Order: sequence, then structure tokens, then C-alpha cells
Amino acid sequence: MPFVQGLAQSVQSWLRANPSPRHRPVTGIVQRKVVINQKGGVGKTAVAAGVAQALAEDGMRVLLVDYDPQGHLSDQLGVEQLPPGTDSLVLHMCGEGKGQLKDLVVTIESPRFEKRLHVLPACPDGFLLDAKIAVARMRNKEAALERALQPLEKDFDAIVIDCPPSLGMATDAAIYYGRRRQGEAEGISGMVIPVLAEDSSATAYAMLADQVESLRDDLGLEIEYLGLVVNLYDSRRGVVATSSLREWRNLGDPKVLAVIGDLKEQREAVRKRMPLLEHAPHCDQSTGMRAIARQIS
Ligand SMILES: Nc1ncnc2c1ncn2[C@@H]1O[C@H](COP(=O)(O)OP(=O)(O)OP(=O)(O)O)[C@@H](O)[C@H]1O
Ligand SMILES: [Mg+2]
Repeated sequence: MPFVQGLAQSVQSWLRANPSPRHRPVTGIVQRKVVINQKGGVGKTAVAAGVAQALAEDGMRVLLVDYDPQGHLSDQLGVEQLPPGTDSLVLHMCGEGKGQLKDLVVTIESPRFEKRLHVLPACPDGFLLDAKIAVARMRNKEAALERALQPLEKDFDAIVIDCPPSLGMATDAAIYYGRRRQGEAEGISGMVIPVLAEDSSATAYAMLADQVESLRDDLGLEIEYLGLVVNLYDSRRGVVATSSLREWRNLGDPKVLAVIGDLKEQREAVRKRMPLLEHAPHCDQSTGMRAIARQIS
């Protein structure tokens, strides 16, 4: 191959691997992605982490909020959870913050993200969050997460919330946080819902949709479904998997942002306590996470 042709090919492949940051309209409003489903084990944490990494790789300053007291997200990224009784998002949401929330934020040290990927770690006190919000003397309880995170918003382009598998007050506060704000474009902030291609996932989705509907009606909010991620998909599971996938696609709104297979790299990254996009930047799942991020930013 002539030298010039070889050079051109190398440049092309480098450009493909290192796309220039896309132009985004400057609205001054932080993008908020709420990764949510009360059904457990569907991939909320995997999708929240993967999408946040893809956004950070693409040039955005991203805060990943480990909003699940199980702390899986913190653990998987090698970040210490906050000890019970110490300052945490939970205390800030209940108006009992001891210091500044930004002091609890941990930066993921990886050359790939150039200090743009950050985590607000979980705290086991979150297991009591629903009860604490219920008894706290505060107005507009659904706004508890928004009030707590507001001081951090100016430091980030996107905030991604990894929700717990529950449908209580804390989840309402997350849905509220993702509502469309005045002056905000469509398709940027809202809910990303990982689902499985099986019937119990459809039942769980219907319950979540009911909850969202009540919040919309009761509080007059604009709450957007950014889309579904059909996760852990394996067509070898037969007609239940293939027909469920068809039904998810037939919904149309919310649209299916991606179909992600049951892939080994995800489990490897968790075991290594390393970001997926650093562990296996070119695997199908990393490519899928970038595709999701592109559609919602
Ligand atoms: N596409 C995938 N391929 C292989 N393993 C996956 C994939 N997505 C998630 N997993 C693994 O499946 C398990 C459950 O995923 P994850 O923790 O993201 O679900 P979750 O909805 O956050 O669960 P929980 O409701 O407990 O918070 C984890 O071990 C995760 O690493
Ligand atoms: Mg999780």
C-alpha cells in the first residue's frame, strides 16, 4: 500500500476513535438523566454508569449520583461508600447537611475521561430515605433531590441518577428532578428505563408509568421518557424474548434507544471495579452506551 494511502487510513481510523465534541446548544441548564425502574437487576446501574462514561468521553463534565443505598455503582467504580451517620446526599435532601455536598464528590481518575467523570457516592442511610422524607418538615417533598443537587449543577454539564429498585418518595423525587424545565429542549432530560425482554418487565413498566402519570397530573409536570434500553437480551431464550422485544419496539413512545446483549465485558468490568469504557472501550456494550448517550444529549 502506498505510504500516503496508509497515512490517510490511519488518520481516518484515529478520527473515528476520537470524534470531536459535538456542538451542543448552551442553555445553562444541566442535562439530567434519571435511570429508573423499580424492578431489580434490569441494568439500571450498568446503563447509568455506561451512559455517564460515554458522555464524559464525549467532552461533558458528568456527575454520576449513586442514589441507591445498595451502593453498587460506587463499588463498581472503586469508590468508597459514605459511612452511615456522616454527611451524605441523604442528609442534604432532608435539610440536615453537615458540610458542602461538592466536598463528597469523587473524581474517577482515568486518562480516558480526563477528570470529567465524577461520582457522588452512596450512603447506607439511604435505606431510610423514604421514611426520613415522610417525617421531615419541608415544603414540596418531591423537590428534595433538586434542592440538594442544585448547588452542584453549575459544575457539570450532565447529572446521571442511578435509582434504587423501589417506587417510594425517593423515586418520586428523582422523577421530579428529571422533569423538563422551562427553556429546556425536548429529549435531553428525563427518564431512561432499562427493561428486560420478558413479561414481568412489562408489568413493572406499567406500574412505573402509572406512578409517572400521577406525578404529571398531581403536580402538572412535564416528564419525558427519553427511552427504553432492552438489556441482557438473548434471542436464544426463544419466543418470549423475541416477542417481548417486538412489543417494546411497538410501543413507539418511549422509543427503544438500544438493545444490549448479555455480555461478558460488563461482568468483567464490575469484577475489576473499573469503568466499562476503560476496561473494554471497543466492545458491543461500550458501543451501545455511546449510541444511547448520543440520542439523549
Ligand atoms: N448487558 C449486560 N451484560 C451482562 N451483564 C450485565 C449486563 N447489564 C447488567 N449486567 C449485570 O447484571 C447485574 C444486574 O445489573 P445492574 O446492577 O446494572 O442492575 P440494576 O437494575 O441496577 O439492579 P438493582 O435493581 O439491584 O439496582 C450486574 O451484575 C451487572 O453487572
Ligand atoms: Mg442498581
